[in-house]
Amino acid sequence: MKQDLIIILDLGSTQNTVAAREIRELGVYSEIHPHDITAEELKLFDNVKGIVLNGGENRIVDGAPVEIRPELYELGIPMISIDYPQSRCEMQLDALPDRDAWKRFIFETCRAEANWNMKNFIADQTELIRQQVGDRKVLLALSGGVDSSVVAAMLIKAIGKQLVCVHVNHGLMRKDESESVVKVFRDELHANLIYVDAAERFLGKLAGVADPEQKRKIIGGEFIRVFEEEARKLEGIDFLGQGTIYPDIIESGTKTAKMVKSHHNVGGLPKDLKFELVEPLKQLFKDEVRACGVELGLPHDMVYRQPFPGPGLGVRCLGAITRDRLEAVRESDAILREEFARAGLDKKVWQYFTVVPDFKSVGMKNNARVFEYMVIIRAINTVDAMTASVEKVDWDVLETITGRVLSEVENVNRVCYDMSPKPPATIEFE
Ligand code: XMP
Repeated sequence: MKQDLIIILDLGSTQNTVAAREIRELGVYSEIHPHDITAEELKLFDNVKGIVLNGGENRIVDGAPVEIRPELYELGIPMISIDYPQSRCEMQLDALPDRDAWKRFIFETCRAEANWNMKNFIADQTELIRQQVGDRKVLLALSGGVDSSVVAAMLIKAIGKQLVCVHVNHGLMRKDESESVVKVFRDELHANLIYVDAAERFLGKLAGVADPEQKRKIIGGEFIRVFEEEARKLEGIDFLGQGTIYPDIIESGTKTAKMVKSHHNVGGLPKDLKFELVEPLKQLFKDEVRACGVELGLPHDMVYRQPFPGPGLGVRCLGAITRDRLEAVRESDAILREEFARAGLDKKVWQYFTVVPDFKSVGMKNNARVFEYMVIIRAINTVDAMTASVEKVDWDVLETITGRVLSEVENVNRVCYDMSPKPPATIEFE
């Protein structure tokens, strides 16, 4: 990549990603690397304009503080040290700089140019993808989530019909979701798209299974089997496209802090299906992935959608999944999303959805006793999904949603609002 680069060396700070994002927001590309990077490795990037020595609370590893290799001071690259006393640096600070101090370091001390933007990124990646893939073919599991959609759009731009997308509809998608994948990718972007309607197959496997872990295992395992069956029908595929993003990489590989989570991808594919990976988003943070999607022409709704779990509505139709309750989840979720959008809450609330438990309660409809399901509404805000607070949804909006659910959704006679923060409740119910 030709853009100027500021390297952040992880010397035990918990703020590495914050720093990287602040630098990128100033229009300069930044990457985080381990503290023990060698001068040789640094020289492989021919465009490093500055180095941030980012110390902090995790600096002591195995009883001793970690240090950078002294050879790095000989490179003549400007350095700033943060919470890492080092007189050989051009700037020394106790805490992360404010915007002005960042600007002074990046533009005055390092003389970096603000040439990091999505247009340049897409142009670079398009070139790199073409170099990597040549005239061969790439396979991509296109779920319709933000990351896989943006990867698809990027690969379509770079290699067009050499990309084969497989969309597996597991029957647990939200209302109209699979339809919109087909509309956007097949009809508008002219992608080579294989649509697999596997709803019956998934529901069959899930019949009578009430344990949440078991449900997740079945959905994940079956997904890989369906995808693998499609892959085996195709010929001459050498690559697998993946929506790996930057946090996946740094969270699974720091040498100072404990591992946050292991990087999980479509890693469950059988060993004899040998693919090389194409991961064009692996340098981007989530908000940059969205900006990239917009720049590539994807619809706003597809790019700015709220997070949706891989097992889909399967974990919101609580207990053993039945068709009537699955429909009640799907329909009530669609109503909730419509009304949140009407009230402008879709831009304010981080995640909102409905669940339908597997028990009934007594009610009255048309002067007769009914015994039907309930819909529970959940609307939460969070920064990192580790903790969450409940959105104080306006009473009138809740009344409108309740009225619509009770009149439009079959088999439902009651609507509740979940008041529980995380912890102790998790965001999802299963
Ligand atoms: P919990 O329920 O653990 O959820 O508080 C935290 C966030 O993770 C999402 N979630 C998932 N996302 N696959 C995903 O891709 C999953 O299996 C899964 N389970 C939970 C959840 O929606 C929330 O945003």
